[in-house]
Amino acid sequence: MRARSRTQLHEFIVVENAPVAAGLHRIVIKADKLAHTIIPGQFVNIAVPGDPSHIVRIPLSYSASDPQAGTIEIVYALVGEGTRRLASMKPGDGSNLVGASGNGWQIHDDDTRVLLVAGGVGVTPLIGLARELADSNTVFDMVIGAQTKDRLWGSDQAHAAGAAQVVITTDDGSCGLKGFTTDGMKQLLATHSYDRVFTCGPQIMMKGIAQVALEHAIPCEVSLERMMTCGFGACHVCNVAMVGGSYKRCCTEGPVFDATEVVW
Ligand SMILES: Cc1cc2nc3c(=O)[nH]c(=O)nc-3n(C[C@H](O)[C@H](O)[C@H](O)COP(=O)(O)OP(=O)(O)OC[C@H]3O[C@@H](n4cnc5c(N)ncnc54)[C@H](O)[C@@H]3O)c2cc1C
Ligand code: FES
Repeated sequence: MRARSRTQLHEFIVVENAPVAAGLHRIVIKADKLAHTIIPGQFVNIAVPGDPSHIVRIPLSYSASDPQAGTIEIVYALVGEGTRRLASMKPGDGSNLVGASGNGWQIHDDDTRVLLVAGGVGVTPLIGLARELADSNTVFDMVIGAQTKDRLWGSDQAHAAGAAQVVITTDDGSCGLKGFTTDGMKQLLATHSYDRVFTCGPQIMMKGIAQVALEHAIPCEVSLERMMTCGFGACHVCNVAMVGGSYKRCCTEGPVFDATEVVW
């Protein structure tokens, strides 16, 4: 297991940047030092060039790092102006990022079998986790949910990482099980027991997954999304309300939290 890295500024160069599904792009960037130290569940804060008035960076998780090549892969949704400008970056273009940020998933070497549940572009940090689990003795299954078949990414990558079972759900039934990721999770829970659940996706989905995990007394880690401005703990824009009444900063004390600590 790699040691968690210090958050700092890194220059990067775009190696690849192309669509992989409807509204989803995959970018591979070269950032040698970061590729050696970033751990699954951490994220990077990217400065996207092209508009000097846009000073806020874009927080993005990563789905693979290759220390030999010095590269990091990110799958991102085209949401607004910043991610659209990111999509227009070409191989050879450069910029900088702040990272590796946040705490990352807690991987327990003694877990026998775990479940990864991804919704939409929440699949990015879970494929990063799947690729890390590939090197461990922990068996893992994965549920990947998307609105429609054409918006789906990650199934091939989950299989290639060694997932024992991959259940696909789509809202409209165009691929896999018609329904939500909670339905896929319940299907797997009928035949398997899990030591831990890891989830990332829309807030409402993670709330449902956390609830199912709680009903089955399975510890659950959630990777939360919040609006971020500084990205390094100074502004408290990204506060997450905790059950005990306190707040934690998603950018430095998250984005991964124990589901039972979060006010849903
Ligand atoms: C820790 C973390 C990891 C993330 N990882 C990924 C990832 O791997 N792949 C991916 O596609 N996206 C990821 N995101 C979300 C991504 O940061 C936003 O989609 C992006 O910042 C939108 O920027 P924009 O300039 O394109 O859109 P904007 O024009 O800034 O915003 C468009 C719309 O999206 C909303 N929005 C913007 N940023 C966020 C945010 N951080 N959380 C919730 N809503 C937001 C705005 O309110 C607005 O309605 C992550 C966010 C966080 C906090
Ligand atoms: S974004 Fe500023 S404290 Fe988290």
